[in-house]
Amino acid sequence: MRIRPAVPADLPVLLEIYNDAVVRTTASWDLAPWTPVEHAEWYATKAEHRHPILVAESDGEVLGYAAYGPFRPKAGYAATMEHSVYVRPGHQGKGIGRALLVAVIEAARANGVHALIGGLSSDNEVSMRLHLSLGFVEVGRLPEVGRKFDRWLDLVLLQLIL
Ligand SMILES: CC(C)(COP(=O)(O)OP(=O)(O)OC[C@H]1O[C@@H](n2cnc3c(N)ncnc32)[C@H](O)[C@@H]1OP(=O)(O)O)[C@@H](O)C(=O)NCCC(=O)NCCS
Repeated sequence: MRIRPAVPADLPVLLEIYNDAVVRTTASWDLAPWTPVEHAEWYATKAEHRHPILVAESDGEVLGYAAYGPFRPKAGYAATMEHSVYVRPGHQGKGIGRALLVAVIEAARANGVHALIGGLSSDNEVSMRLHLSLGFVEVGRLPEVGRKFDRWLDLVLLQLIL
């Protein structure tokens, strides 16, 4: 497996991976799948601001990706980024998420990011454990700020100072 920057040809697979998480899980709090147009806008914004999208590839197949972007829009937050990581169903639990998270941390460090924030649904035990094992620290817990699948969701904010 290798990790490399995403290219436009990856977009359909990245959209498929993301939308699977939207419709089946609380990893994303989007309630409806993204359209290809929305997804292309997301990619273009990342490219415009030189925010990385890293993909994990094995035998020519994209198995997951990680990315970061602004935590909050105001200028004073410029050195703080919020990241995300998604691994294709069927390939989870094989170390791909860990490799992607390590790579996105390294990219953030290389790009002068000072703090990385992960916003996790409190029921996402796998992601929680993964982040804590890489040095992220819980800095906030916001009860019942999300709603999906007819239940309230708690947001956990995890932080890594780089
Ligand atoms: C969360 C996610 C990114 C983790 O990636 P992954 O490739 O599945 O996880 P890894 O194989 O790298 O394992 C990471 C850790 O979680 C543990 N883990 C993985 N799958 C697990 C499972 N199904 N049950 C329990 N523990 C599990 C591993 O043991 C590992 O811990 P260790 O390194 O201490 O042994 C991935 O499962 C995923 O994309 N899930 C759906 C989307 C999502 O939740 N994204 C994160 C949003 S914050």
